[in-house]
Amino acid sequence: MESCLPFFLHSFCFTSLVLQISYALDSISAGQNITDGQTILSASQNFELGFFSLGSTKNRYVGIWYKKISAGTVVWVANRENPLNDSSGVLKLTPQGVLTLLNRTNGIVWSANALRPAQNPIARLLDSANFIVKGGNNDDLDDAIWQSFDYPCNSFLAGMKFGIDRQKGLDRYFTSWKSADDPSPGDFTYRLDSSGYPQMILRNRSKVQFRTGPWNGIRFSGVPQLRPNPIYTFGFVFNQNEIYYYYNILNSSITSMLFLKENGSIQRSTWVDQNPRVLYTPTQTDDCDTYAFCGANGNCDIASLPKCVCLTGFVPKFPIDWGFWDWSSGCVRRTELDCQGGDKFLKITEVKLPDTRFSWFDKNINLQECEYICLGNCSCTAYSNLDIRGQGSGCLLWFGDLMDIRQFNENGQDIYVRMAASEVGGSSSRITGTRKSTGIIVSIVLFVVFLLGITVIYVKYKRAGKILALSRQSHSEDLEVPLFDLTTINRGVTVNATNNFSDDNKLGEGGFGAVYKGVLKNGQEIAVKKLSENSRQGQVEFKNEVICIAKLQHRNLVKILGCCIEQDEKMLIYEFLPNRSLDCFIFNQEEGVSLDWPKRFTIINGVASGLLYLHRDSRLRIIHRDLKAENILLDIEMNAKISDFGLARSFGGNESEANTKRVVGTFGYMSPEYAIHGLYSVKSDVFSFGVLVLEIVSGKRNRGFNHPDNPLSLLGHAWTLLRDQKFMKLVDPSIASTFNPVEVLRSIHVALLCVQKNPRDRPDMSSVVMMLGSENTLPQPEQPGFFDETSVSKASSSSAGKHKKYSANELTISHLLPR
Ligand SMILES: *[C@@H]1O[C@H](CO)[C@@H](O)[C@H](O)[C@H]1NC(C)=O
Ligand SMILES: *[C@@H]1O[C@H](CO)[C@@H](O)[C@H](O)[C@H]1NC(C)=O
Ligand SMILES: *[C@@H]1O[C@H](CO)[C@@H](O)[C@H](O)[C@H]1NC(C)=O
Ligand SMILES: *[C@@H]1O[C@H](CO)[C@@H](O)[C@H](O)[C@H]1NC(C)=O
Ligand SMILES: *[C@@H]1O[C@H](CO)[C@@H](O)[C@H](O)[C@H]1NC(C)=O
Ligand SMILES: *[C@@H]1O[C@H](CO)[C@@H](O)[C@H](O)[C@H]1NC(C)=O
Ligand SMILES: *[C@@H]1O[C@H](CO)[C@@H](O)[C@H](O)[C@H]1NC(C)=O
Repeated sequence: MESCLPFFLHSFCFTSLVLQISYALDSISAGQNITDGQTILSASQNFELGFFSLGSTKNRYVGIWYKKISAGTVVWVANRENPLNDSSGVLKLTPQGVLTLLNRTNGIVWSANALRPAQNPIARLLDSANFIVKGGNNDDLDDAIWQSFDYPCNSFLAGMKFGIDRQKGLDRYFTSWKSADDPSPGDFTYRLDSSGYPQMILRNRSKVQFRTGPWNGIRFSGVPQLRPNPIYTFGFVFNQNEIYYYYNILNSSITSMLFLKENGSIQRSTWVDQNPRVLYTPTQTDDCDTYAFCGANGNCDIASLPKCVCLTGFVPKFPIDWGFWDWSSGCVRRTELDCQGGDKFLKITEVKLPDTRFSWFDKNINLQECEYICLGNCSCTAYSNLDIRGQGSGCLLWFGDLMDIRQFNENGQDIYVRMAASEVGGSSSRITGTRKSTGIIVSIVLFVVFLLGITVIYVKYKRAGKILALSRQSHSEDLEVPLFDLTTINRGVTVNATNNFSDDNKLGEGGFGAVYKGVLKNGQEIAVKKLSENSRQGQVEFKNEVICIAKLQHRNLVKILGCCIEQDEKMLIYEFLPNRSLDCFIFNQEEGVSLDWPKRFTIINGVASGLLYLHRDSRLRIIHRDLKAENILLDIEMNAKISDFGLARSFGGNESEANTKRVVGTFGYMSPEYAIHGLYSVKSDVFSFGVLVLEIVSGKRNRGFNHPDNPLSLLGHAWTLLRDQKFMKLVDPSIASTFNPVEVLRSIHVALLCVQKNPRDRPDMSSVVMMLGSENTLPQPEQPGFFDETSVSKASSSSAGKHKKYSANELTISHLLPR
């Protein structure tokens, strides 16, 4: 029904649904009932309760859904396992206060198990979405004899208690739906586990997938994203009777909730004044969130490569597997424990505490006593504070292997891991006289070994022709930009192909070289860019450059995983993005439909914020110089990721910012001053951005654009349409049913400001980001550069004449202009 209505009718359609409601009550009392078709509404009409179906199925369920926002998102289902097959259902409140769902033959399909009978019961839908049954004379919520919040489905709403109540015998946890139109319990559960010190655990059936880690007084140890914020407060209650996590919304114009999705991801959705936004995803933000990703006694550090290391004092159980990035077997002690009082503890900082299912704890013991207790039991392997507030308090002990530790840069916790004394060496303050001298000897020996090691490495590197500026870089920097070795890459790239870097696994070709797909031994997919050889940089400079670039981290930039410099080869290793590049969608009628307007608008904003980061916020202030649809890659969720950034800089390191002898760029995206005079600045990127936006809106390439009625370029055409207020004619038919005219108009307008002929007239990216997000009026754009076809061809012929290599298909030029 929705799809056949023009967009502006949707709101009418929605209001007419509101008017259909026959029951505007928020409650039913004993003996009353709700039949299929009737609903009740919470007092301020946030939520509605009644019968509904999902998707195209005929099954009828009783449940609660959002009334105002998000077009009926269901937050609770009564008979999730037992649907009715027709509309004969009746929800009744019995005189004893039991909610009962009956079918055509008065068979009981579902009923609420109330804690006790009530006098004059009433069932009321509260504004929090809690459906409660209580004695009619009593307004105290705590006296409710039943409440839907005690039987949650997949939605964690504000005010709910996520956890257990031993007195009432309740265990409130979340179960995913089987699918979007089947609310019966799916594979995933998110549940409080109180077998050791409590933590929340997400399971796929019985398999642990993720844990939050224990509560540390401020947040869950493994969820540093959980921070005080303007949207909700949160806390954890842990006493004799109850253990639960809760949150409350701060501002009634904000709605926010957690969903356990069918695929096991947990998402917080937030609506501010009924505008949706996803705030954060508390689970599985990266591989290190996967339970025991690095095996027993391993430590997962997402910023390093490989991601897994053994805890200090531990070594890989199966070094060969470990070397091939199969970390599942984990690590074992290098030196066995002494257990006769000779063991020490090594402090590891900023980590997510390991699995506490087999832990022991006492809130009243301090850290020293905690160490003492741990030392006294040979199977105790680690200890830490329970609560990190203030000086820290409480004692948590682990027994056996330490599972699922991950490293954070900040907001992690300290843990003390038991070691044989020899592993701790001279760093412990408790070393006695004789031990101290042993310690010194050990240190000297280690130092000599270290020197030898350095020499060996130096000689080896020199032989391979890659002396790295070891002295100039600290060890930690090296960790940040891992150097892959050529064999790893070759092996990775040849997994699915017969030849090294064959055309079979070529992903594409850009201005700086070809890109190949590869798979590392651990299954991680990578994209390898093999740089063409005409870089004038030396290897050390190149590596330093890559180190800088790899430090640029932004959600709209493709992540660089590392580089490889060997035997005259220079390669960059990127994350692999399966959805290919933007041009595959916007210039293709069939694929174009799947990229609806909201996604396109997100992409436009994403590219803008990525560019702003490059231009202004990153330390390097990078000008991209080759922004085009082919260089915008898309992740699983169709977020834009700019690729090839930093290469322009890397290849032209010493040239002035104002002009270049080397034009890298693509016709159709190059600004006039750059294409013709080789002048570039951040404003050349702004120009390319404007072209890109017009292409996204129109689904047409700027280069090669041909209008039957006039000789204008795409830019000139758009400018004319905006001037004549006919901008709708520009819109790609693929998004005709999804576009938002206000956003489209604004995008076109901003784009035209970006492609103005004079660079000084163009806004910078911070203004662009602001203009895209605001509703202020915008200045009128001057005529764009390359207004008509003749000016385009003039520029391309003037450039093409001077270029040695120019391919009409590749559209990429990269070589020297004679000066
Ligand atoms: C539901 O209530 C209506 C009137 O309140 C009554 O006529 C009807 O019989 C009730 N249905 C059932 C199944 O109790
Ligand atoms: C619903 O189920 C009942 C019992 O299984 C069956 O008799 C009836 O025909 C079904 N009704 C529909 C509409 O399928
Ligand atoms: C009504 O529910 C009862 C009990 O669940 C069941 O045995 C019966 O088949 C159902 N009748 C219909 C018509 O669905
Ligand atoms: C709640 O949010 C609205 C809109 O975002 C804002 O206007 C209002 O000032 C906020 N109220 C409080 C108490 O923060
Ligand atoms: C859940 O586990 C099953 C096997 O137990 C697996 O087939 C499935 O892919 C898992 N689901 C997800 C989303 O990981
Ligand atoms: C699960 O599905 C949601 C959309 O429902 C998506 O945003 C998320 O990325 C998916 N997560 C995984 C792990 O596939
Ligand atoms: C050590 O701790 C474990 C686990 O709590 C316990 O089962 C065992 O009895 C303890 N051993 C000693 C000697 O106290």
